[in-house]
Amino acid sequence: MNGKEVILGVTGGIAAYKSAELVRLLMEDDILVKVAMTKSATKFVTPLTFEALSGESVIHDMFGQEGTAIDHIQWGQESDLIIIAPATANFIGKMAHGIGDDFLSTCVLAATAKILVCPSMNTRMFENPAVQENLDLLKKRGFIIMEPGQGALACGTEGPGRLPEPDEILQQARKLLSDQDLSGLKILITAGPTTEPIDPVRYISNRSSGKMGYALARAATLRGADVILVSGPTDLNPPPGLNFCQVITAEDMRRSVFENRSGCDIIIKAAAVSDYRPRDHAAQKIKKGPESLSLELVKNPDILTELGSTIEEFPAVLVGFAAETEDLVANAEKKLKSKNLDMIVANDVSSKDAGFETDTNRVKIIYSDGRVDDSPLMTKDKVADLVLDRAKAIREAGLEG
Ligand code: CTP
Repeated sequence: MNGKEVILGVTGGIAAYKSAELVRLLMEDDILVKVAMTKSATKFVTPLTFEALSGESVIHDMFGQEGTAIDHIQWGQESDLIIIAPATANFIGKMAHGIGDDFLSTCVLAATAKILVCPSMNTRMFENPAVQENLDLLKKRGFIIMEPGQGALACGTEGPGRLPEPDEILQQARKLLSDQDLSGLKILITAGPTTEPIDPVRYISNRSSGKMGYALARAATLRGADVILVSGPTDLNPPPGLNFCQVITAEDMRRSVFENRSGCDIIIKAAAVSDYRPRDHAAQKIKKGPESLSLELVKNPDILTELGSTIEEFPAVLVGFAAETEDLVANAEKKLKSKNLDMIVANDVSSKDAGFETDTNRVKIIYSDGRVDDSPLMTKDKVADLVLDRAKAIREAGLEG
């Protein structure tokens, strides 16, 4: 999101403290954040908090010392997105009825940027027809309204009215800031480990967390693709807005991938599939017995090899991942060739800051023409965007050639 600029408008609700976390998350995405606060917002959180987090002056007084005389015009016209979070009933009413009586409301009136409104208030206030009609008016005028969360509110009641979590607002902001460059593409992504049962309480699996595959699925969805995520068991919540297929074993994953492959433009296999499974799955828990116990394993299908060998029937850009602990490039190149892939993303899973359970990754991308791209240590979200950029470029080159 480098080069994007967001105005965060904070109005006077108890959830204003959550907006401080939102600033941090937006900045982690390399977004420039400028904060404007209403007078009542400053009663909940001080401008200094936002100034320290964003590194930019915070405007909270139309006629105060901060900024220049035309900032209220420029801010909304030069930024890519305005987020009002939290948006109180009062501020929603002002926006709906064209009232400009402070910096933030005049900024909204003069804005050309998209405006994302995140209501946060007591449930009765939120459900009041006046507030609902004001929100409808804003929707009709092209404002994007985020549904408030449900649950216990600061006022002691329960129901809709909670400010969505900062991470949810971030995802929505990313979507609005993205170029939607993958719109019209169908992308199948696999993620996580597979687990192979031994008996009802035990299984064989591996340390894959699914983070890389989920980051790919989230990024592709935000960029407008129609995404199918086939995932083994993980602790992660599926990203919103995609088709999610939960699987357990390698055979389940194979079935789901082959059911969904038709019409896919890009297939990315980030899953760490168990290569073997126990020959027999005991119906009851295996009881403790002799000093040693052997488990006979049989080979699982290699899903990616099967996809690669039938790619002419179902043309798609085929991307594999190679989890290696030694000879990274040589081993990944072998997999690229034997599985008939367009590219393979190789990562050293024995490294502390790149691999299965981390939030960062350092990858080498190897292409079928022999080129190798070396990436620095990046967040898995950034690696996801890079992999999608490269897969998209291969697809476009294929269409031209
Ligand atoms: N893969 C697959 N089906 C399998 C094994 C692997 O589809 N049964 C895919 C993975 O999703 C990944 C790629 O093949 O995209 C490479 O997986 P990896 O585990 O690195 O390699 P393997 O082919 O299993 O070889 P090895 O375990 O010997 O390194």
